[in-house]
This record gives sequence, C-alpha cells and structure tokens, in this order.
Amino acid sequence: MDIFQNPFVPGAGVQPPELPGRHDLLDLARIALGRARAGRPVKSLIAIGLRGTGKTVLLQRIRAMADTDGYHTCFIEAHDGARFAEIVIPHLRRLLLEFDRLGALNEQVKRGLRVLKSFMSGFKISYADMSLELGVGAETGSADSGNLEADLGDLLLAVGRAAAARQTGVALLIDEVQMLGQRDLSALIMALHRCAQYAVPVILVAVGLPQTMNMTGQTRSYAERMFEFPAVGALNRTDTNQALTVPTGRQGVSWSDAALERVWLDTAGYPYFLQEWGYHSWNVASGSEITVEDVDKARAAAIMQLDENFFRVRFGRLTPKERDYVRAMAELGPGPHRSSAVAALMGVRVQALSSYRSRLIDKGMIYSPEHGDTAFSVPLFDRFMKRIMPDWAPGSVGG
Ligand SMILES: Nc1ncnc2c1ncn2[C@@H]1O[C@H](COP(=O)(O)OP(=O)(O)O)[C@@H](O)[C@H]1O
Ligand SMILES: [Mg+2]
Repeated sequence: MDIFQNPFVPGAGVQPPELPGRHDLLDLARIALGRARAGRPVKSLIAIGLRGTGKTVLLQRIRAMADTDGYHTCFIEAHDGARFAEIVIPHLRRLLLEFDRLGALNEQVKRGLRVLKSFMSGFKISYADMSLELGVGAETGSADSGNLEADLGDLLLAVGRAAAARQTGVALLIDEVQMLGQRDLSALIMALHRCAQYAVPVILVAVGLPQTMNMTGQTRSYAERMFEFPAVGALNRTDTNQALTVPTGRQGVSWSDAALERVWLDTAGYPYFLQEWGYHSWNVASGSEITVEDVDKARAAAIMQLDENFFRVRFGRLTPKERDYVRAMAELGPGPHRSSAVAALMGVRVQALSSYRSRLIDKGMIYSPEHGDTAFSVPLFDRFMKRIMPDWAPGSVGG
C-alpha cells in the first residue's frame, strides 16, 4: 500500500499514531500534577521500562499535559558524562526569567535568580552572558557550597517559591534518568524531599531503564516514600491489536485475525517492534485487509530494520568478551538468568566474569533485577544475539 500514507512510525521518541495501554500511567501523572499545583502532597513519578517500550513518548505526553495545566516545564535528557548541575542550570534560568516577565517585580523571583547565580558559582560554572543577563547579585550562603545535595535543594526550593509566587508550578521531566548516576540521582531525590517538606509546587516525572531502581543508594528509603515507580512494558494482547488496527482503520484498512496473531507472536507486544511490524506489513499489503501472508512477507524487512536501528548500535558498543557473555545469556533464553548459570555454560567460574558483567551493566545493556540475576535491558535481545552470532559455542570467542 501507499508508503506515503503509512501511519506507523518506528523510531526513538516518535509519537505513535495511537497510544494504547498507557491510560493508567497518564492518569497517575494527571493526578500528581493537579495535586502538586494545589499544594497537596504528591508522589513524583519515575516510570521504569526496557528500551523501546515507549518511555520517551510517554514523557512527551506528560509534558504536554503539564503545559496545558499551566505548569512551567523543563524537559531534560540526561546523558553520559554530564553533571546534573550543568544540565539543569539553563532550564532553571529560563524558568526564572519566564517568571520574571510574568508580572510586577517580585521578591521571590528575584531571590530565585540570586540563588541560581550562587549555585553557578558553587559549581564554578560561568556562562559569560548568563550572569549579566540575570541582572542580580549572587546570594552568598545559599546554594553555593559546591555540594550538589545541599545546593540543589536550596535552588529547587527557591525556584519553587518563585513559581508559587506566580501561581504556577514547575514540572521537571527527565528522560534516561539512569544516566544521572547514583550521586546526582540521590541529590535530586533529597532536593525534591526538601521541596515536599515546604509544599512548593515542584514535581518530577522521570523515565529510565530498570537499573534506575538500584541507583537510589543511601536515599532509597526516601525514594520509596516519595516516588511511584510504575512500569512501562510490553502491551497486552488487546492493546497490541489496538496499536495496529486503530491507525489503519482510520484509512479504511483492517487486519485479519491471523495477521494480528502473527504480529503478537513475533513482537510480544513491544511498542517499538509493533511500529516496525505495522510499517512493513502495510507496505507489502495490497488490499483493504492486511493478511497473515503480508505479515510473513514483511517480517524479514522488519527484522532487518530492527537489527540496523535498534539492536546493532548497542551490540557495536560491546567488546568481544562482553559479546561472548551476552551471547551465552542468549543461549539460555530471554532471561533473567542466574550469573552462575551463565558462568556454567561458559565453563568458567562466576568470579572470572564479574568484571564483564558490571561493565555490561554500566553500558546499560543488562541489569540485575535481583541479586545474582541478570536480564537484558533491550527486549528480545536474545533473539538478536542468536541472529548475529549464529555459530557461537561456549569458548569460541578468544581473548
Ligand atoms: N503505547 C504504544 N503503542 C504503540 N507504539 C508505541 C507506544 N508507545 C511507544 N510506541 C512507539 O515505540 C517506539 C519507541 O518509543 P520510545 O518512546 O522512543 O521508547 P523508549 O523511550 O522507551 O526507548 C516509537 O516508535 C513509538 O512511536
Ligand atoms: Mg527513550
């Protein structure tokens, strides 16, 4: 069918034509945003899921919701090697300047700007034009210790008070939150804790990989009280059908039951894969119904695209030894697997593999759902590993 009319959109962070299976999560966010605006205690949200499950698009929707709700929002993508202090400053600066323009001179807003300035000096961050633009002096003794845990609390509190003075709220939206690392994430948790104590309208909605759960460190007990950790996973059968049939239905195209069944078996309901299967099935279909033959014809192209765009980048970042480890895991199936079982298959002792395992965790390739267990952060990665290293046998990788 006409590729130009194809409604499916495989691709990171691209809004799907239909977003089934996420109503509960969106409701949770709606309620949290509403309550925070009203100065009520709320739990911030950190939604957890594997790659390609739709976390980024969900966060974008929540941001739109917050915007509509009258919030001032910061959408932050955490990344490797960047300190949170550095990433967050331009965002908070923008917010404070927005607050400043919202009405007559306001002491809370001015103070917010002063605290931001001292925060920057605490971290020896100077953006030449930025301090001039702020038009205020720093507030000595606030947020300028250079210790993120203390300073971020001062800063968020000051920004929250400025927001309250303008009858608005601040929504921090953080994508790839696991990239903050344990130290910065803990500092953020403690900062939000202070905001909650003073009931200022600052709320965090974050999304990240499952390893986020192991990163709350010392602040774990706070995190458990202050956050909800809803899961973003594969869609169930009904939602999977909806993700496929609603977008094509708008163009008068349906799916046969057998075709839907086939996509379900191939994709296990993982959102990214559904878009890929939908996209290629549409392209090969010719009538007003997508048939199981179409799906069968489309499969090779869908898998090739997935391998190219989704799996291979992650695979490319692994050393031969790490590949060996991951391939051994794949041999055991989708997982999770005991580390001891992986070691046994490879014919070595667990300790001999522990450094590879931790590096794979650092790279976001695998995570530990429970002590001694190992699972893939990318859905269906076991099948990919078997495709890309078909002739593997234990001990076949040298080095
Ligand atoms: N509920 C859903 N139903 C169908 N497709 C979805 C859904 N959520 C996300 N997608 C699609 O899945 C793909 C990956 O989404 P993305 O938000 O980038 O995932 P993540 O951030 O978890 O890696 C995109 O093509 C997106 O359109
Ligand atoms: Mg994402």
